[in-house]
Amino acid sequence: MTLRQIRIGLNILLTALFLLGLAGMFVPRVLHEWGGYLLMCAALLHIGLNRSYFQSLGRGKMTPTRTLNLVSIVLLGAAMLFLLISGLNLTNVIRLPDPTISRSLHMGAAITATVLLLLHLSLHLRRYVRGKRGAAAIVGALLLAAAGIAGLPYLDRWYHVVHVSRAEIVPGEHVAGLGRILTVYFGRVGNTDFPPNVDAVSGASVMLDGDTILGNAEMLALMAQDAAGGDLLAIRTEKIYPAEYVPTTQDARAEFDADEFPALKEIAVNPEDYDTIILIYPLWWDRTPMAVASFLRPYDLSGKRIIPIVTHGGGGLGEAVETLRTYTNADVREGLDVYSSDVPSARQTIADYLKKNANE
Ligand SMILES: Cc1cc2nc3c(=O)[nH]c(=O)nc-3n(C[C@H](O)[C@H](O)[C@H](O)COP(=O)(O)O)c2cc1C
Repeated sequence: MTLRQIRIGLNILLTALFLLGLAGMFVPRVLHEWGGYLLMCAALLHIGLNRSYFQSLGRGKMTPTRTLNLVSIVLLGAAMLFLLISGLNLTNVIRLPDPTISRSLHMGAAITATVLLLLHLSLHLRRYVRGKRGAAAIVGALLLAAAGIAGLPYLDRWYHVVHVSRAEIVPGEHVAGLGRILTVYFGRVGNTDFPPNVDAVSGASVMLDGDTILGNAEMLALMAQDAAGGDLLAIRTEKIYPAEYVPTTQDARAEFDADEFPALKEIAVNPEDYDTIILIYPLWWDRTPMAVASFLRPYDLSGKRIIPIVTHGGGGLGEAVETLRTYTNADVREGLDVYSSDVPSARQTIADYLKKNANE
């Protein structure tokens, strides 16, 4: 086998691993992880085999194409580095303070790297496809790059305070057939002493209706109760979580690591008196928060149904439903996940999800 054939084979493998990585949410997690490690190794090998390119950098004329190629390679390298660091944090190989940033960073870096890879490939392709077609390939790749970069703020939109009107977004279709219903929610709002300048410190996941601060889980709970009827209950911890986002994540991490069930304030109703518990909470470190476990543990909920709704910053359901099942003997249904930015427009999604559960 010649060196050229090895290079071509490696390039094909690299692109295939990249595409496999992009399908990350559809393949088993372990495949995504190991695919990622392999991708990084293949990328290093690719650099090693093409080191003559880097050695020749100081020489010759820097044409616009050459400059563009160099810029795309440097940016691609940076995106891959971000991809690696956030990936290692998500798999707990390293620990950064904020899991959500990592998730958004990982997705953002993946989009950016894809776009830059397209640019990189199309510049190489120009050796073979010249003239108008080659230029069209580059323009196309640049447009995709712009779309990827513009998409980043969307991915991170969960990070900003959103203004809403409850009167407009809570009412909607009613759902019957769930028996006696208790909607229970847990979230940062209600368990955090937010200062008036909440925009500046909260970091994530709060909404303002006039002067009232509303959390994502809380808003979803208002919608669920409006749809299904029944009673509403907020889980309140004795302790107050920090107003700043990152210290909250550290607190939560410590709770998980110590298997600590935070003490709760009095629960005004008996959950055993209901047929259906709609349980709404945020994804914390990819799982169900310990305060939700504190709430469930004292009750015998056999024969009852729990319908989980999980709000998150990009992690989907994560391990939330699996961890929830370890805290209760209730019939825990398949969960619904609501991305934090989608909370204000989730009313019909919730009604549809509850209808589906009522029919099962
Ligand atoms: C302690 C903590 C840990 C979090 N961990 C994750 C996570 O692992 N994955 C994720 O997608 N979002 C994570 N988030 C983001 C929240 O799930 C998301 O912002 C949610 O919508 C917040 O709902 P709330 O306003 O009801 O608290 C975390 C947030 C906090 C405070």
